Amino acid sequence: MIKAPFRWAGSKAKITSELFKYFKDSDTYIEPFLGSGVVLFRLIQDRKYKRYIVNDINVAIIEFYKAIKDHPFSVISRLNHYKEHYNNLKSMDLKKQFYYNVYKKEYNRNKRQWEYFWILMKTGFNGLYRENKKGEYNVPFGYKEKITFNENEIRQISNLIQNVEFHCMDYRHFINLTLEMMGEDSQQSFIYNDPPYCNSQRYTKDEFSNQALADYLKSLNIDVAISDVDNKTSNEIYKYFFKVIVKDTKRVINIASIQQSREVLFINYDIGTRT
Ligand SMILES: C[S@@+](CC[C@H](N)C(=O)[O-])C[C@H]1O[C@@H](n2cnc3c(N)ncnc32)[C@H](O)[C@@H]1O
Repeated sequence: MIKAPFRWAGSKAKITSELFKYFKDSDTYIEPFLGSGVVLFRLIQDRKYKRYIVNDINVAIIEFYKAIKDHPFSVISRLNHYKEHYNNLKSMDLKKQFYYNVYKKEYNRNKRQWEYFWILMKTGFNGLYRENKKGEYNVPFGYKEKITFNENEIRQISNLIQNVEFHCMDYRHFINLTLEMMGEDSQQSFIYNDPPYCNSQRYTKDEFSNQALADYLKSLNIDVAISDVDNKTSNEIYKYFFKVIVKDTKRVINIASIQQSREVLFINYDIGTRT
């Protein structure tokens, strides 16, 4: 199964087949919280939908996938360059210095620089992406001796995403814009939402409101599904949706703790007797 080119905390990579059992069949697939992109890639591999429109507020992710779509060979050569550079640094101190230079002097000054995003995700702590209140990436160094890079994955992803439409904005603007653009066809679409979980880490400088997302999605007349973990908060916030249990799994809560949790989907459509 295809993987994403970077680790991403909260990635659904390990549960895509269980998730897909409960996805609504439709013509157009809309994903407002793309993250690593792994859900999208596997759906395209399964040829589940005809059209794919995706979004994330993280500009580096979207610029990265647009570059992979349009110029896979130049992406491969740039990532190889950074991989070699990092792996050839002679000591862990030099690698650490390189990491902090990249994020303080380069990435935090211009987040469109996807090659720096990639190197940070490869060499930072555990695939975590976190921003402080000023919007600065601030994950500690991951102390990796060497990093690896699979060129073939980039070529495969490039082939898969040739017809995908990428956007970068807040989910609400994205969904409004997409449904408006689609007109009547929007009735034939399915929106899969994998937002920051209730009570989870910050991906952006702004606090994420799951309640605002729930209220917004409830107001739409479109089939939607929302991923979260099964707890009191999510059950309260998404109480107007049906809950299906996807899988019992382990989840990285923050740098210090990993917990047992139950992945669920909150949906507003009938799934019949699927198991
Ligand atoms: C849990 S992750 C998605 C993981 C993804 N499904 C995967 O398997 O890799 C949540 C994503 O929501 C994005 N995000 C956070 N706030 C957002 C917003 N207001 N609008 C759009 N995307 C947002 C984050 O950048 C992050 O990539």
